[in-house]
Amino acid sequence: MNITLHQAFSPVLDDQDVLVLLMDAQKPLEFPAEFPEAVQAQLKPLIERSGFNAKVGELLPVHQLSDFGFQQVLLVGLGNKAEMTAAQSQTVATTLYKSLTARADYALVHAGNLPTALLEPFALALSNAAYNFLLYKSKKPEHKIKGMSLYLPDASEAEQQQLAFVSAIHRGQSLARNLANQPANICHPEYMAEQALELASHHPELKVTILTPAEMAELGMHSFLAVAQGSERPGRLILIEYNGDGAPDAAPYVLVGKGITFDTGGISIKPAAGMDEMKFDMSGAASVMGVMQSLCAAKLPIRVVGALACAENMPSGHATRPGDIVTSMSGQTIEILNTDAEGRLVLCDTLTYIQRYEPRLIIDIATLTGACIVALGKVVSGLFSPDDALAQELIDAGQHIHDRVWRMPVWEDYQELLDSPVADIGNIGGPTAGSVTAACFLARFTKGYRWAHLDIAGTSHISGANKGATGRPVPLLMQFLRQQAISSPASAA
Ligand code: BES
Ligand code: MN
Ligand code: ZN
Repeated sequence: MNITLHQAFSPVLDDQDVLVLLMDAQKPLEFPAEFPEAVQAQLKPLIERSGFNAKVGELLPVHQLSDFGFQQVLLVGLGNKAEMTAAQSQTVATTLYKSLTARADYALVHAGNLPTALLEPFALALSNAAYNFLLYKSKKPEHKIKGMSLYLPDASEAEQQQLAFVSAIHRGQSLARNLANQPANICHPEYMAEQALELASHHPELKVTILTPAEMAELGMHSFLAVAQGSERPGRLILIEYNGDGAPDAAPYVLVGKGITFDTGGISIKPAAGMDEMKFDMSGAASVMGVMQSLCAAKLPIRVVGALACAENMPSGHATRPGDIVTSMSGQTIEILNTDAEGRLVLCDTLTYIQRYEPRLIIDIATLTGACIVALGKVVSGLFSPDDALAQELIDAGQHIHDRVWRMPVWEDYQELLDSPVADIGNIGGPTAGSVTAACFLARFTKGYRWAHLDIAGTSHISGANKGATGRPVPLLMQFLRQQAISSPASAA
């Protein structure tokens, strides 16, 4: 749902709108100046009797107010506003949305009490809370709420731009979620290519190039093809170029996404339990497509190339066997010891391919290792980069928009774990430091470039009963690129 700014303290539709008021726990009885005395007089005794303390996410609905444009008010606790975190703003937003679903057609959220720095993560969480994926549900659950607006007393130009940026993130993030939530019988590499073409058909600033297996073979991408060859569905390398206004010739930012539309593990087949979630193994590619959509909406004046490495990892008579040796596009030979370590095999050739764009920097995004989930859980994405400045910029961007990363090492010391007795490199590094050795594998294909790797195995989707794609790290990447557009404008390149 798109959150718009409402410039007046009045209902958007009619007096049935819910007015949402965010309350500071330190001042639970303090109302904004817009509230008429008579309404405050109705509300204060109600609050005192209810025991409402304005704790984080605490709710108090009030009905049948008289002499006010709104008949319903929903009070929502912010906790101690002075110490509020982005994570808490997200909790408030999601709790608030849940309570709104059955309450009214429209809500106006009075955001005057929200700390300025939390406006963006709050508005983004509120937009995202309304997301659902009901394409295959015959009966769609009805949500009453059809729209939400924010009211900010004296909204500045900057705040209006912030909300527009949040809305751009939300669009791309929703696209990423839609793609990743599609089952693998629908969403295969050719489907991803069609979706890229479909996106570009609406945006002249996008240009799509699609490589087929024959073209990849011509280029020597035998590592990529070793993954794709077990499937009936041919692999696709999808390039999406975004040329923002005022940046036609600048060196591009290149985003590389792992797009395994289903990861069975191949001949090194995965156990059955939870394997359905391997439809999310294309979340990196989905997030790159999402960023492309967001860039068009936000109109950032930069150049970005998205490279989506799409293949299906299946066992079959054509599949790669453990022990097979392939030559990558870079010339390095790889002993494929485990066909379930397939992400790095499609990524390494893609990382070599995209060097023709002379990237300003490269970020790859991949649901790469279960080991990353062991290390960091589902809260933060793993960040791996030999470049301290780039790493810090990504950390800061993640903090700002609340799509956080945690840095892990990619030191040379780990490289020997990837040694193979028969090829230049093995595709697995043994039982320890699995997410680090995966990153070290990729590092061999990005030498001489500014490069960061994001392992999103834990953050790309929610598991279990509420299974679903999160669309992360679209917010992180958009915030990063927005910051880049400000700090190193294309004209200075
Ligand atoms: N796609 C998986 C990683 C993954 C696991 C993502 C769980 C999300 C949830 C990846 O291709 C994989 O299978 N990695 C192996 C690597 C191992 C064979 C070295 C893993 O993590 O077990
Ligand atoms: Mn795998
Ligand atoms: Zn995988």
